[in-house]
Amino acid sequence: RKPISLPRLTQMRAEGEKITMLTAYDATFAAVADAAGVECILVGDSLGMVCQGLHSTVGVSLQTMAYHTESVTRGLHRAQGTAWVIADLPYGSYQESREQALRSASVLMQAGAHMVKLEGGGWTAPTVDFLVERGIPVCAHLGLTPQTVHALGGYRVQGRGDAQAAELRHHALQLQDAGASMLVLEMVPAQLSASLTQELTHCHTIGIGAGKGTAGQVLVLHDMLGVNLGKNPKFVHDFMQDAGSVKGAIEAYVQAVKNGSFPDDALHAW
Ligand code: KIV
Ligand code: NA
Repeated sequence: RKPISLPRLTQMRAEGEKITMLTAYDATFAAVADAAGVECILVGDSLGMVCQGLHSTVGVSLQTMAYHTESVTRGLHRAQGTAWVIADLPYGSYQESREQALRSASVLMQAGAHMVKLEGGGWTAPTVDFLVERGIPVCAHLGLTPQTVHALGGYRVQGRGDAQAAELRHHALQLQDAGASMLVLEMVPAQLSASLTQELTHCHTIGIGAGKGTAGQVLVLHDMLGVNLGKNPKFVHDFMQDAGSVKGAIEAYVQAVKNGSFPDDALHAW
């Protein structure tokens, strides 16, 4: 198997094949997800909740992200995995300036990431442009952006209503123009993410709680395995229930995304 690359993801999309993404935070689970056929592994700052027991992603440091990114990429290397690895730039590591963002992104790239992800629209476009110009692939993240949960007033659906939808669309187009080659859409109306996916021909949309009309899907690994400290968000399916093993559950997720049965329309009421 050839390593997953951006051209390969573009080719998948052109052929109508859904892109699968899952979070992983350590060597073993990264290797299992890879072996189960997941194309993209996200070292998400959700590790703050999943691994560190924090209440939000706000407390995750750049050093912690680098530590987990190294673990994931070592695991993939040992297992001869092929997944494309995306690492989250944590809160406070990119907001100050484009230069700060580049320094932080370099730490994650040197830890083995192939791409970095950052949250927000508008003010982030020049930062994305700065990183992409310097050879760092960037995944953007709009809709519910957990690093700004306190400003958003909670973990709630975003992009509702004409004004919010128009702003989100404007930000998405700006991010594509700035060179973002992927865009996570979290908890946005299914219709909005589907129409954005049609418009963003050079930027692959990856949905979470955003309906089935995106180019790909992402879930938090522990959520889809049914092991987490809180209540699962409404859009998550527990793939472990009908699977005999972790690898089987991840294979079922990959298959369900590819054949369009996940996400089910009933999994998002917005
Ligand atoms: O940190 C994370 O796991 C994420 C995904 C939920 C998209 O950003
Ligand atoms: Na994240």
